[in-house]
Amino acid sequence: MDFLQLAQNRYTTKLYSSKRVSDEDIAKLKEILRLTPSSINSQPWQFVFISDEPTKEAFAKVSFINEERIRQAIHLVVFMANSALPSFEEKLAKASTEAGVGFYHKVQKPKGDVSLYAWMNNQVYISLGFFLSACASMGIDSTPMEGIINTEYDKLLNEPQYTTLFAVAIGYRDPEDSNQLHLHPKSRLPLEDVVKDFKL
Ligand SMILES: Cc1cc2nc3c(=O)[nH]c(=O)nc-3n(C[C@H](O)[C@H](O)[C@H](O)COP(=O)(O)O)c2cc1C
Repeated sequence: MDFLQLAQNRYTTKLYSSKRVSDEDIAKLKEILRLTPSSINSQPWQFVFISDEPTKEAFAKVSFINEERIRQAIHLVVFMANSALPSFEEKLAKASTEAGVGFYHKVQKPKGDVSLYAWMNNQVYISLGFFLSACASMGIDSTPMEGIINTEYDKLLNEPQYTTLFAVAIGYRDPEDSNQLHLHPKSRLPLEDVVKDFKL
């Protein structure tokens, strides 16, 4: 399937079957996440995979309207961003180039904490796009979820250098899922409202 067809066919799954994603596919998804591109190769992230039932249940309970989805889907992936600069900067020195580290210290860091953490969080959202597309290409269904209690996730995960941004449930749709495209066609703004050609 070409990428346009994948984009047309993927959708946010609301009801999951009990079928597990194979260990091989989970390993592939982990590697795909690791390969996500980021500004100056900064990689300010951590991806946490959860499939143990009691653990998943603890996260489901602090996930608002997404509670049932997390319970049904066999796998939950939590996307975290670096939230402690010393550990991020140590990692950056290993991951980036001299020019990249220079850009960080001369351009990004002086903008102040709000801008700096927004920039780091933005990188993690790139991995979300990469991940959802990868799942679609592998025939795996997914639910991206910002509707979770991030602070409760952070308490459960207990990772002082990182903070939770969002989570994704993955698995295979239940045949009764009401969000499937034949029951709930994809809705987007018209192309001319969101894409323009430009010339000076
Ligand atoms: C960052 C992000 C957060 C989202 N949070 C939720 C969520 O908490 N619960 C949910 O059911 N859907 C969530 N969605 C799904 C969107 O509502 C959905 O992508 C959008 O309506 C377009 O529908 P489609 O994905 O089926 O094409 C989220 C999507 C994104 C990209």
